[in-house]
Amino acid sequence: MTETTTAKANIGVVGLAVMGSNLARNLASRDGNTVAVYNRSVEKTNTLLSEHPEAGFIASEKIEDFVASLQKPRTAIIMVQAGKGTDAVIDQLTQLFEPGDIIVDGGNALFTDTIRREKAVRETGINFVGAGISGGEEGALKGPSIMPGGSAEAYETLGPILSSIAAVAEGEPCVTHVGTDGAGHFVKMIHNGIEYADMQLIAEAYDLIRRGTGKSPAEIADVFAEWNRGELESYLIEITAEVLRQVDAKTGKPLVDVIVDQAGSKGTGVWTVQTALNLGVPVSGIAEAVFARGLSSHPEQREAASDLPGPSDAWRVEDHDAFIEDVRLALYASKIVAYSQGFDAIAAGADEHGWNIDLGAVSKIWRGGCIIRAQFLNRIADSYSDVPDLKLLLAAPYFAEAMAGAQDAWRRVVVASAQSGIPAPAFSSSLSYYDGLRADRLPAALVQGQRDFFGAHTYKRVDGEGTFHTLWSGDRSEIQATDSH
Ligand SMILES: NC(=O)c1ccc[n+]([C@@H]2O[C@H](COP(=O)([O-])OP(=O)(O)OC[C@H]3O[C@@H](n4cnc5c(N)ncnc54)[C@H](OP(=O)(O)O)[C@@H]3O)[C@@H](O)[C@H]2O)c1
Repeated sequence: MTETTTAKANIGVVGLAVMGSNLARNLASRDGNTVAVYNRSVEKTNTLLSEHPEAGFIASEKIEDFVASLQKPRTAIIMVQAGKGTDAVIDQLTQLFEPGDIIVDGGNALFTDTIRREKAVRETGINFVGAGISGGEEGALKGPSIMPGGSAEAYETLGPILSSIAAVAEGEPCVTHVGTDGAGHFVKMIHNGIEYADMQLIAEAYDLIRRGTGKSPAEIADVFAEWNRGELESYLIEITAEVLRQVDAKTGKPLVDVIVDQAGSKGTGVWTVQTALNLGVPVSGIAEAVFARGLSSHPEQREAASDLPGPSDAWRVEDHDAFIEDVRLALYASKIVAYSQGFDAIAAGADEHGWNIDLGAVSKIWRGGCIIRAQFLNRIADSYSDVPDLKLLLAAPYFAEAMAGAQDAWRRVVVASAQSGIPAPAFSSSLSYYDGLRADRLPAALVQGQRDFFGAHTYKRVDGEGTFHTLWSGDRSEIQATDSH
């Protein structure tokens, strides 16, 4: 290992597990970059150096030497375990860095941690940038979608470096300065939430087709491959076909049939839902996806419920092709709902935290490198470019037309789910959300009446100004009241 006191590297990476080592290799492969690397335990550093001599890394065993190997302003990307690991490395770097230097956290931090860290580090004069990096290990190596927050000043130095390693979609690098402090990690969190919804919707489509038509996983792989040539074209649809086509070498069965049907998670879906609840934004598609993973992972409850009755009437799909087309449209409409809800959450987060987030730019940087990459994101970008203060993505002309074309099929699929007893929580809750939004009157009026009854929470009237309360336990006359929503 080279120990150096000569500052030669324009960028450094701390943390050389799968993400950090791939990101470091990506950086090193771009013209003009010399990359310094450091890992707490030296084994990972040695492995990276021996496996990739072509990268020309400047490696250090001590973090002091790593810092000395960086040109000023020093820029280091941290790719270590989120949480305590990140705090530990930030502490070390802030003691060694100088004002104007830049610390980038590329891990999956909770955005409120990023806001806290940015505030603390800023007081030292050092820049702190929380950058969401999506695309898993392959993205890190070949080009991720990058969502940096932090100051505009830091982005001046960082922007060109991140642009050089980001995925490219239609000639544009998949990176933009999302907003200040925690904005980047916030947007990355919502990205992951949308990813949960997208995956759940695809899984529901697969289940309905399999149980409705009796097609094999390999045959359904063909269906998804076909869908991938149309408006659903996306990385997730593409890999779904791959997974369904895979045959287990040990048993000769479809791999999907030998995988235990319990879906895990690392927490970003939960964070999205918790955050959206706090913001008052209904992200029902994402929430159903998180809940569906939770339900799947309670085998004891599933065992206890296994003898509960299903539908009494037999259910049969008469026309397989027509049913599959209905499911495709239901998937498309539900997906539009999930994205519309996700963008609502970003807009609400931006309002709450004072971030100036360009929603069209966010949709563009998700077109490449990340897990939800899809053609469809171009239509979202177009919608925000046509109407920058769009109130509801799914009501933008392109999507309103798509919903109009899909909604009858969507309803048939939700009916089929209820009649057959095949669960489709994300399909059905998305349809209820759509119908709730477009309703002239909602039973929220009754809920508000109930609230006024037991808690004197008051109500407004449809026929005039003011706030009112009915004297429910008195003579039930109505009085003027102070708003106590
Ligand atoms: N894996 C993915 O697909 C993916 C995708 C997007 C984002 N991310 C995020 O990227 C980050 C890195 O992920 P990963 O999977 O490559 O690694 P990881 O398993 O999350 O973390 C392991 C790395 O963290 C270091 N580390 C842990 N505690 C430390 C401490 N107290 N001080 C210094 N270093 C410490 C380890 O060093 P030692 O070798 O010394 O133990 C090792 O380099 C995480 O925040 C993760 O959430 C991962």
